[in-house]
Amino acid sequence: MYRDHTCGALRSNDIGKQVTLSGWVHKTRDKGFVVWADLRDRYGIVQLVFDAERTDASLLEKARHLGREYVVRAKGEVIERASKNPQMPTGDIEVLVRELEVLNTSKTPPFTIADDTDGGEDLRMKYRYLDIRRNVVKDNLIFRSKVAIEVRKYLSEEGFIEVETPYLIKSTPEGARDFVVPSRMNPGQFYALPQSPQTFKQLLMVGGLDKYFQIVKCFRDEDLRADRQPEFTQIDCEMAFVEQEDILSTFEGLTRHLLQEIKGVTVDAFPRMTYDEAMAKYGNDKPDIRFGMEFGHLNEVAQHKDFQVFNAAELVVGIAVPGGASYTRKELDKLIDWVKRPQVGAKGMVYVKCNPDGSFKSSVDKFYDQEDLAQWAQITGARAGDIVFVLSGERNATRSQLSALRMEMAQRLGLRKADEFAPLWVVDFPLLELDGETGHYHAMHHPFTAPKPGQLELLETDPAAVRANAYDLVLNGNEIGGGSIRIHDRETQATMFRHLGFTPEEAKAQFGFLMDAFQYGAPPHGGIAFGLDRLVAILGGQETIRDFIAFPKNNSGRDVMIDAPAPIDAEQLKELQLKLDR
Ligand code: AMO
Repeated sequence: MYRDHTCGALRSNDIGKQVTLSGWVHKTRDKGFVVWADLRDRYGIVQLVFDAERTDASLLEKARHLGREYVVRAKGEVIERASKNPQMPTGDIEVLVRELEVLNTSKTPPFTIADDTDGGEDLRMKYRYLDIRRNVVKDNLIFRSKVAIEVRKYLSEEGFIEVETPYLIKSTPEGARDFVVPSRMNPGQFYALPQSPQTFKQLLMVGGLDKYFQIVKCFRDEDLRADRQPEFTQIDCEMAFVEQEDILSTFEGLTRHLLQEIKGVTVDAFPRMTYDEAMAKYGNDKPDIRFGMEFGHLNEVAQHKDFQVFNAAELVVGIAVPGGASYTRKELDKLIDWVKRPQVGAKGMVYVKCNPDGSFKSSVDKFYDQEDLAQWAQITGARAGDIVFVLSGERNATRSQLSALRMEMAQRLGLRKADEFAPLWVVDFPLLELDGETGHYHAMHHPFTAPKPGQLELLETDPAAVRANAYDLVLNGNEIGGGSIRIHDRETQATMFRHLGFTPEEAKAQFGFLMDAFQYGAPPHGGIAFGLDRLVAILGGQETIRDFIAFPKNNSGRDVMIDAPAPIDAEQLKELQLKLDR
């Protein structure tokens, strides 16, 4: 037997017990006549003691040669500690060892296995299995497991069944590039890995399964960010005979259940906001509503004076930053540099200090008098002591710049509190989006999304105005889920493909199977998919999903531990009938 207790289990009421423990040597301390070793496993740390007076000399010698991360089995008696450690759950006791067996030695680890490790990101990723021994990473993985289990519990109680869909498929358009897999048995042909199980879950509805979910890997070849991985996990769901309202209430229920069970947080009915409102108020379709700083629209009051920059702008818009009136010239210059960084892209920024005495001091005093500035303050909701930051220019660009500034200021002011949860449904997304580069429309969500009732005709005359039965669930400024009511008749789907620039032949070649299925009694249906990695990270109070994935990829999409991707050998290439043009 390797163990009858774990390293985190023993307490003072175990004093006197004979126990067997196994684990990793966390650290040792050698005082000559006594050696202590901290033994660690997933459950905690317990102190082993080897004492010349109470154990034999050879055992003491053995303990002295234990290295960090050696794997050992120790047998001994639980005794009371002379100097207790209230910081440790097992801090009242120690185990006086009488038998010690080294189960495996260890090279000195390349970084310390501690909460505050000295290992940089790259090193920790290369030795991820050692990183996982650290509490931070280990706890994140346990946390993730807990969330996934709660999801399964809730959805199965609601009558959902979990169905697995294939990974070797044909392209599913979710807006990213596909990862492809060559087929040996069909030379020159490729499978695509699913960007999502979208078409399969719709076919399950045609198959009559009516409430489906799956915790499933999805693959997208896109640029990586803190909240994006090339392979990630969705909680993918679909329901038949539902309208948007049914979906929103079901998955609001799931989210509320998770917040309650995992975080002990009760939230009221989730607010809803249209896409247009979100863009106008926050410049962003996934606004963080834990704090205010809503956009104040200043075109009417700031244009038609002598300030040409504003006069020439499509949008003049500002936010009030609490307490900002005290910023120094130097701080303001730094902020102006910040908005001018290429990542943000503003050309400049105007500010108005709302002085505590009720007067205003702006960077455009030459053009605007106190009365003008008072109006700006009023529109942005600025109070004495605040500062108003104003950006201007092309509408979409300006909105996104001010949105970036709003998030940055909130971060700096500590307004993005990790233990506060503000969910929000964003609804009525545009059906189509104009691709600036190609001049073509593409589906904003995906091509299977239904337009709002009665808006199909509008596709012919004003495609950009068509709204979709599509919704996102936003949590603390992150898109954690998205879905839609689907098109379920062949005609409408064909019309949709036509508007997206597919010829009937292309549509048939790519999605004929779905169009065919729609001819056999497809029920009205809709669904949603949550990003599990994102959801878990946000519930865990963070935004970097990598920390909640056991074996993530780095920013270049590499797994540095197994060194993938990697070339394949000539024989394999030949078998697949692939030639590399290099
Ligand atoms: P969508 O593309 O919005 O919808 O994806 C759903 C959710 O998945 C998460 N997500 C990601 N998480 C990590 N890394 C990525 N690269 C990544 N991409 C997306 C996000 C997102 O909200 N088939 C539709 C769903 C539906 O219509 O039912 C879909 O995949 O949290």
